[in-house]
Amino acid sequence: MVEVAYHYLPKIEVSTPIIDQQVLYDLATKYGTPYFIIDEATLRSKLRELKDGFKDFFNPVRIAFSMKANFNPSVIKAFVSEDALFDVTSIGELFFYLNCGGATENVIYTSVTETKEEFCEVLEKGVRLIVIGSFNGLLNLIDAASEKRIIPSVMIRVNPEVGVKAEVRASYRYGKFGVPFNGHTTDSASNLLRKIINSKNLIFEGFHFHLGSQIENPICFVNALEKLETFILKMRKEFPDLHIKIIDIGGGTPVSYGTPVPSPSEIGSIVTKKLNSMVQNLGDQFTLIVESGRFLSAEASILVSKIINLKVYEGHKFIFVDAGYHLLLDAALLRQEYPQEVVPYVEDTENLKINLAGRLCDTYDIFPLSPASKLSGAELGKLIIFRNVGAYSIVFNMPFHCQTKPPILFRKTNGEFVLARKGETIEELFEEEGGNINTGV
Ligand SMILES: Cc1ncc(COP(=O)(O)O)c(C=O)c1O
Repeated sequence: MVEVAYHYLPKIEVSTPIIDQQVLYDLATKYGTPYFIIDEATLRSKLRELKDGFKDFFNPVRIAFSMKANFNPSVIKAFVSEDALFDVTSIGELFFYLNCGGATENVIYTSVTETKEEFCEVLEKGVRLIVIGSFNGLLNLIDAASEKRIIPSVMIRVNPEVGVKAEVRASYRYGKFGVPFNGHTTDSASNLLRKIINSKNLIFEGFHFHLGSQIENPICFVNALEKLETFILKMRKEFPDLHIKIIDIGGGTPVSYGTPVPSPSEIGSIVTKKLNSMVQNLGDQFTLIVESGRFLSAEASILVSKIINLKVYEGHKFIFVDAGYHLLLDAALLRQEYPQEVVPYVEDTENLKINLAGRLCDTYDIFPLSPASKLSGAELGKLIIFRNVGAYSIVFNMPFHCQTKPPILFRKTNGEFVLARKGETIEELFEEEGGNINTGV
């Protein structure tokens, strides 16, 4: 263990949050490595920043947290206390949300499966706003609503089929999510709209789309909204009383992992201009919903790991940490570059190519480096932090190589660190994997 004197250490810039280096070492001693930290103040400030980006919209704006990005209860509770909406995609997520004190009126339920049993359960639990992305799902919702004698509100999830420049694209021709606007098939927005309007036990609210994650160019939102506006005007010929109460533009607000990305205010100003013109052209005072998982949660978290092995040959330096891609699956799946930093960071004069390797016995367990990574001065026993790991990471981890889930520490706004998830023991993992079931073998 490297001894780090408290008094002379500078603060470490972890984009946000800023955490004292000695505190990182003290927590490592107390909880072991690796461990995650989630910072409450950052979660709350990101919510405000995103909402602020759309401040010029004429009508109300609501921000929804997409809990698929991070369903740790400490995160859910922070956003529940901010009265955020929640994008919920499964019965399991709904269970977590309700058990964290979430109110059903703040749920937007957008599932992929859309079964009748699922809708019966969701309606029974009190959810009233449901996004539908298939004709079969719509029939299931109508059945569930009539069986439960409940009249839910519905949005149609469209697939605008626009070009999207993003790390993960969700809108493209023949995509998995939503329905195209027209088309002569059952699964089209025009057909779903007819069915909803003619159904006595549904209330039509508006439209939803989700274009992708880590969107690099916001023009795709404008293109999608233009297609949506044209579609609404066309459908008004058939249904003159068609009015839009909500437009939900999904997620996609990006986070900087070391290269510049558009900010919420840059995205907001472009998108708001189009939305305001839609308010005028359609004559509808619709509410805007902006969903976000990544932007709201990524920057609130760091992963703290320890250097456990080193080797140097032929101009290469291999730094082995006790984390691995089982904790940051996107590093392997999407080659996500989480900015890493040696703690304490010191410039060295070594002219070596750095390879940051995880602890797994797997070729792909080499972490991509970001332009913001700072990996000189690596020594055995020092810590290496991974920044911006709060989205699509903590909730992705799996027990590859019999690796247990690490603890999550929540830094409250008063600076106190509390355990938000205890580290799993190897005995608990054995139990979870069925080790104590008598299979008779
Ligand atoms: C329907 C929906 N909304 C919002 C999001 C959140 O996207 P992001 O985390 O990029 O903001 C997702 C992510 O998959 C999604 O499927």
